[in-house]
Amino acid sequence: MFDQIKIDHYLQQNLEHGAALISQAFNQKQLQIFFEECQTLKFSRPEIVSDVRQKFTRFAFQKTDVPKNIPAITKLRQDIETWVQSSKNFAQLRDWQAYDTVIQKYSHDGELGAHLDLKRHPGVIVICSISGACVFAILHSKKGPVKFALQPQPGDILLLRAPGLSGDPNLDDRPPHWVSGNIHESDPFRISVTFRHNLKPAQPIRAFSYDHPQRSNDV
Ligand SMILES: [Fe+2]
Repeated sequence: MFDQIKIDHYLQQNLEHGAALISQAFNQKQLQIFFEECQTLKFSRPEIVSDVRQKFTRFAFQKTDVPKNIPAITKLRQDIETWVQSSKNFAQLRDWQAYDTVIQKYSHDGELGAHLDLKRHPGVIVICSISGACVFAILHSKKGPVKFALQPQPGDILLLRAPGLSGDPNLDDRPPHWVSGNIHESDPFRISVTFRHNLKPAQPIRAFSYDHPQRSNDV
């Protein structure tokens, strides 16, 4: 799916700045299919156990437990994995897997407060925008000012730097970031699909659970 998009170019940008935006990676027809598949899933609110605001709903699954009723997103997951592994300049991504998938739905008053993603998600985090738009701000620190802000639109892919991309597994260069609710007037929601590698897939993440495929039919 991504033969025309030179991943090394964007990975280098991502390494230098903490995030990189790839415009229009998907066409309207693809977006419509992804959107329709998302409508079949049962989204739920995350459990809040920290002071990070999490005003969205989500549906999450692991590579080993993919819902049956989302074939296009399943293919997207595979294609993203192949694409990241195809990097020539970042050999440490050869073993990267799109292990965890989280689909998030933000209304206009949604938000994901300033935070760092977990250390267990190495290399790169790949965020595909399906509908709506947001302000995605990279911060100097979790409580610090905005370094720069991106506005992913439907069809865009945002890459976020994750531990080990530099080649040094001990360098913790995760960028603090903040995500607004949907800023697209005509769409009721922003929907994003995020793929992460997971170094500890069998070890539960605090206050986070995966949605089992059978729940997805239980709308
Ligand atoms: Fe994040």
